[in-house]
Amino acid sequence: MTAAVLAAALLPAAAPAGAAEPLRRGIEAERSALPGRVLARPGTSSGAVVRVRLDRGPVAWPIPLAAGPRLALRAGGCTGRIGVRVDGGPRRTARTRRAQRRIVLALPVRAGRRVVVLERRGDSCATVDVDRLDLDLDAVRITLGAALRPEQLDRPGVADAFRREYRFAMTENALKMRTTQPFPGLFLFDAADRLRGLARSVGGGLHGHTLLMHDQLPAWLDDRIQGWTRPLLLEALRQHVAALVGRYRGTARTWDVVTEAIRPDGSDWPSIWRRAIGPDVVEHAFRFAREADPGARLLYSDNAIENPGAHRDGVLRMLRRLVRAGAPIDGVALQGHLKPEIELTPAQLDDTMTRIEALGLRVQFSEVDVPLGLPVTAAWRLYGARAFGMVADACWQHASCDALGVWGVTDATSWWGPEREALPLDAAGRPKDAMRRLRLGVRGRLVAEDPVPPSAGAPLGSVVPAAGRF
Ligand code: G3I
Repeated sequence: MTAAVLAAALLPAAAPAGAAEPLRRGIEAERSALPGRVLARPGTSSGAVVRVRLDRGPVAWPIPLAAGPRLALRAGGCTGRIGVRVDGGPRRTARTRRAQRRIVLALPVRAGRRVVVLERRGDSCATVDVDRLDLDLDAVRITLGAALRPEQLDRPGVADAFRREYRFAMTENALKMRTTQPFPGLFLFDAADRLRGLARSVGGGLHGHTLLMHDQLPAWLDDRIQGWTRPLLLEALRQHVAALVGRYRGTARTWDVVTEAIRPDGSDWPSIWRRAIGPDVVEHAFRFAREADPGARLLYSDNAIENPGAHRDGVLRMLRRLVRAGAPIDGVALQGHLKPEIELTPAQLDDTMTRIEALGLRVQFSEVDVPLGLPVTAAWRLYGARAFGMVADACWQHASCDALGVWGVTDATSWWGPEREALPLDAAGRPKDAMRRLRLGVRGRLVAEDPVPPSAGAPLGSVVPAAGRF
């Protein structure tokens, strides 16, 4: 995407002057930081370690680059299979054919990572020339992630499905305050530590959910038990944020700093935080998080604001206040719980994302799921698949969107229950049509249409994804 197109994508007519300029510059800086080169000599034999050096490390822009660029190996006329592994991560293999000059493996590649060209079988050549590194950000610009609860890793197939499809892990409940600090000063991190290990196993990171929320609070915060003054509760918030963000610094590249601070009617949620600290509690939470990790991406997360309405307006008002106050907020995580009653069109989603980027904030998705109506029919399944395609296409259309998280690994782990078939992988972890559209959409190869719930009675047009293999 050229700078002009990028600018157009980020600077709609109504944008306040200069609000999105730093965002645009930052994204361009991210893109320009990538071109790298392989330091290996041509003719590197299999098994050698090929050091990959990027021209510059993760750019200064507040987000360390998420994994994503792809590695192109030019196979010198070999046939057979070539395997590649990055730093102990999952092995990627591709079949080469004599006529084929290049194979492309989508691998998370970051500065300093080792690329090990593994053995080949059945080929007729002596060496593989690893002499090119095409860091094609556009090809895999958007990283897919999934939320889970650590105990789900003991269920058959969940960990394998996660490692096959996703590159970052979100903590569904493991980093909520009731779980992490059940008593003042007592921190419990075993659950989140397990998810950190899983994220590392795919060379990805954690998306920490969440530092401040009106819900899932420990009993000791209840102000019917003890009166909280502003200074006291601010200090409790600072200590909580410092403990969590400090512990996962470097692995949790992204945080939901504040989740659902605004109610559906657009007013502030009257949580204990808001009552005892006041309207600037959100700003303080972001400042505490920035103090604890200057390199993390700090997001505001909310539910059901993809559509126009009082809820979205209330969130946009709060975001404007935060930006004007200079709060260290990097972006918004649209949760994307697309319940059938929330009829959302691509144009409405695009409008919401454009308004957020016009404030100079990034936008991404963090909790996408599409619970189908019951009984589930083929029409409902097509609706679900189209909804995921629409979200992926919307992320592709917005230059700042580089992460799309779904709220569960398989239908069996969905908080909606398996019967709602709300996720891109079925209960056994097999990709559904929704996964196909998700993969195509995040590579710019799907033109999504309105996902119309069958209950709305409108005919379901067929969506023929653009040509291309996923
Ligand atoms: O683990 C206990 C189990 O031991 C106990 O037997 C059972 C019955 O009490 O409860 C289990 O804990 C439940 C937990 O989910 C794990 O299943 C909690 O009661 C239940 O409240 C919790 O619900 C979570 C909900 O947030 C409230 O925290 C859901 O899993 C989680 O998916 C949901 O996620 C929210 C995001 O945080 C914010 N955005 C919306 C999203 C969906 O509501």
